[in-house]
Amino acid sequence: MAINSRILLLSIVVLFAMFSFSHGLENSSFRIKAVNLGGWLVTEGWIKPSLFDGIPNKDLLDGTGVQFKSVTIGKYLCAETGGGTIIVANRTAASGWETFSLWRINETTFQLRVFNKQFVGLCTNGNVVAVSTTPGKSETFVIVRKSDDLNRVRIKAPNGFFLQAKTEELVTADFAGTSEWGDNDPSVFVLSTAGGLQGEFQVTNGYGPQRAPQIMKNHWNTFIVKDDFKFLSSNGLNAVRIPVGWWIASDPTPPKPYVGGSLQALDDAFKWAQKYGVKIIIDLHAAPGSQNGWEHSSSRDGSQEWGKTDDNIQQTVAVIEFLTARYAKSPSLYAVELINEPLAPGASLESLNKYYKAGYEAVRKHSNAYVVMSNRLGSSDPRELFPLANGLMRSVIDVHYYNLFSDMFNTMTVQQNIDYIYTNRTEQLNHVTTSNGPLVLIGEWVAEWKVNGATKEEYQKFAKAQLDVYGRATFGWAYWTLKNVNNHWSLEWMIKNGYIKL
Ligand SMILES: *[C@@H]1O[C@H](CO)[C@@H](O)[C@H](O)[C@H]1NC(C)=O
Ligand SMILES: *[C@@H]1O[C@H](CO)[C@@H](O)[C@H](O)[C@H]1NC(C)=O
Ligand SMILES: *[C@@H]1O[C@H](CO)[C@@H](O)[C@H](O)[C@H]1NC(C)=O
Ligand SMILES: *[C@@H]1O[C@H](CO)[C@@H](O)[C@H](O)[C@H]1NC(C)=O
Repeated sequence: MAINSRILLLSIVVLFAMFSFSHGLENSSFRIKAVNLGGWLVTEGWIKPSLFDGIPNKDLLDGTGVQFKSVTIGKYLCAETGGGTIIVANRTAASGWETFSLWRINETTFQLRVFNKQFVGLCTNGNVVAVSTTPGKSETFVIVRKSDDLNRVRIKAPNGFFLQAKTEELVTADFAGTSEWGDNDPSVFVLSTAGGLQGEFQVTNGYGPQRAPQIMKNHWNTFIVKDDFKFLSSNGLNAVRIPVGWWIASDPTPPKPYVGGSLQALDDAFKWAQKYGVKIIIDLHAAPGSQNGWEHSSSRDGSQEWGKTDDNIQQTVAVIEFLTARYAKSPSLYAVELINEPLAPGASLESLNKYYKAGYEAVRKHSNAYVVMSNRLGSSDPRELFPLANGLMRSVIDVHYYNLFSDMFNTMTVQQNIDYIYTNRTEQLNHVTTSNGPLVLIGEWVAEWKVNGATKEEYQKFAKAQLDVYGRATFGWAYWTLKNVNNHWSLEWMIKNGYIKL
């Protein structure tokens, strides 16, 4: 009996050692030096603009803000009071209430969402209003562009007539027939666009169901390839953080407009990672409903709906469980990041805590991988997740450090930027580093700043400062990103051109 229990104990110790070994626990000074595979399985237009080149009417994508100035009245269409009542044509300048956010049906057909989130539609009397919150046939319009002047448009209503601005206070859908496109035609408007998104929703819906599958497949197969894993593992990196979107869990038939195939690409990444000894952090970058309203979380029109219902949270947990279960046996699965950059106050701490707890448990059902929890952007307390994370084994807090996206960086010199890294980032990192709390990942950073015309040597110093400081993060760091048409945002370019050496 005594021997048996000793053998049992020994096996437990051996098993634990093997288990620890396979997860890098054997050496507590191990840190990941990772690069993000941004713009691969979750589209971001600024990373690879050419992906959008073949979209017809590519300036009219989901979420693009459009404004219409009546040529006869010389004023902008406006959802009076921001929505909930009539459309008028009496505004001399265009901002929030005068900007309509596109929901694209196809290259010519659109729904128009107003400031308060209703959709432009028709009343039975033919007047144009913004009252419906769920767009249907009455809220679906065709935008007809003048062939030799694309910013001159007419708007065809679902009743077959064109919209016209009859007076400043009366916009109706009852203009019949063709147009000479003259300045005396009340059905003609000058179109301008404001802002817009270039994310996965926009690219897939922009190409539409016939073309998107092939375009996306081609992108996935060429943007990141096996040789990239060889390159990064032979240049001092030991991990990748891979942004994925929630639709990957319903591959090969995700909800429209998303298209299948990204799961196959992720499978490939795991094969290549294993071959080159690279660890993988799966990062849920786009959660259902969008956790921050940006294109990189695949928001349709800038709305942020994630976390507002229990169903939505449960759906997100199911995505995490699906991904963990699929890759649990891979020696490359190192961590699962439950959600990227949830934005306060829309993403409340309460819903996030609920989700993180359930997401953590979903990972633990299948794997002992690290579980990464992204801090909320827009929150003033970088330790707000500690009460939860402190009690969870192998939990990690993710913080993102960019010397960008805040006015305070706009006027900083080279030296001030570098001082900020050595002084202020060190302080910030120390503040979230505790001896028995969660580990810390700096999951995004880049050697780019608001300094104009900096020299190569200055970039090298800036990169080195960040490597010096971020190298002390207890879990490690990940550069944003491997490939990017903007050179400094491409770690591949930075390494090949001698800006960064690891
Ligand atoms: C632990 O990891 C660090 C960094 O990867 C390495 O320099 C060190 O030699 C390792 N120590 C042991 C005992 O393996
Ligand atoms: C535009 O018309 C609406 C509806 O009559 C009116 O309430 C509003 O004050 C007008 N706004 C301007 C700037 O004329
Ligand atoms: C766009 O969608 C509308 C409404 O479903 C349809 O009538 C029209 O034929 C479509 N146009 C194109 C170019 O696909
Ligand atoms: C950086 O930290 C120093 C020292 O704590 C502080 O005086 C300074 O105001 C900080 N700079 C910024 C831009 O926050």
